[in-house]
Amino acid sequence: MAEPFDAVDVITTKRDGSALSDAQIEWVIDAYTRGVVAEEQMSALAMAIFLNGMNRREIVQWTNAMINSGQRMDFSSLGRLTTDKHSTGGVGDKITLPLAPLVASFGVAVPQLSGRGLGHTGGTLDKLESIPGWRANLSNEEIYRQLGEGSGAVICAAGAELAPADKKLYALRDITATVDCIPLIASSIMSKKIAEGTHALVLDVKVGSGAFMQTLDKARQLAETMVQLGQDAGVHTVALLTDMSVPLGLTVGNALEVREALEVLAGGGPDDVVELTLALAREMLAAAGKPDADVEGALAHGQAMDTWRAMIREQGGDPDAELPYSRVTHDVVASADGVVQDLDARDVGIASWRLGAGRARKEDPVSAGAGIEIFAKPGDRVVKGQKLLTLHTDEEDRIPRALDVLSGTLHIAEEPVERAQSVVLDRVSADDLS
Ligand code: URA
Repeated sequence: MAEPFDAVDVITTKRDGSALSDAQIEWVIDAYTRGVVAEEQMSALAMAIFLNGMNRREIVQWTNAMINSGQRMDFSSLGRLTTDKHSTGGVGDKITLPLAPLVASFGVAVPQLSGRGLGHTGGTLDKLESIPGWRANLSNEEIYRQLGEGSGAVICAAGAELAPADKKLYALRDITATVDCIPLIASSIMSKKIAEGTHALVLDVKVGSGAFMQTLDKARQLAETMVQLGQDAGVHTVALLTDMSVPLGLTVGNALEVREALEVLAGGGPDDVVELTLALAREMLAAAGKPDADVEGALAHGQAMDTWRAMIREQGGDPDAELPYSRVTHDVVASADGVVQDLDARDVGIASWRLGAGRARKEDPVSAGAGIEIFAKPGDRVVKGQKLLTLHTDEEDRIPRALDVLSGTLHIAEEPVERAQSVVLDRVSADDLS
């Protein structure tokens, strides 16, 4: 059967600054999924969208077309409300690990269909795979059973049938400099979340050097676009805008971040990680009709840890197994007395990636033990020779390239540094939309 459109005409429309019609969008996403629109044509279209943007109607239609490229999940028969969280990605962002069991410990189902790290941002599945035996790939039956009759929390890989157009397009955007574009990010994230069928969604939109959105204004625009898409699709959606100018917590890497998540589940952990975990948990539980849940108590009294242990066991992992360590460590020490002026999230993310914690290509393995431990953050006073970071790697020759990128940050001077009062910078809900 003849195709109703020509890819070149669709690209030309957007290249020349016009809006795409609903029919053009529906066709181009479907034809791309079928392999009729070639990768090079879609990369030209993605660049035209990057440069000329999309209006609200186009974004809604683009999102719907990506949802329709695959199957939808349906949690309506679970007998529990489902509430999910999505982070736009950052450095040291291990929040999903304590958050999912914490929220599930109140009887709400938490389906966290997660991804792997690419580039300088880590991936939740890579972190959890440092737990011996733990499995990321579950069948739909396993997911429904764990959510309905089991621990209530699932953190697993999204199946190939969920928004397959986004899987292809995201990989293409990653290699064509078209990732950090609000219409494309919003439609990518929301197509997967709407297809997943969650009742409520809390978005953690990161702002700062380690995030896709470098300014609060851009992050707010992205948050408003996603909240609107969620509301239009009947998903109760709220967004928190949170700081990603410095790494979250005191560890970056896979097993290192699991250890820190365990500290939070045991009632301890760094203040910023605890603050964000509690803020997101309160939003998720409020959206599921439990605004008064005692989330601090669930961490302090072991209720969240019990759910974590059950969730890890259900997915084949041993919650008591020792987590891997890297073979080599290297300390970075203060070159002078003074106050730490900066710790750039992107630089730390890239250094951790170079140490082996991240991957350059989808098929590359990651090192479970690699990463960075942080002992001083901006505003801390240090003395010459004091340990600032410990680098962990399995291959000693990775250390010089990691040190190279870190040489641009961790400056020490006598100027005082103002610390942010809170990691949560703003909140966007449906009430804030015009
Ligand atoms: N995460 C996604 O899933 N998609 C994007 O485009 C960016 C971050």
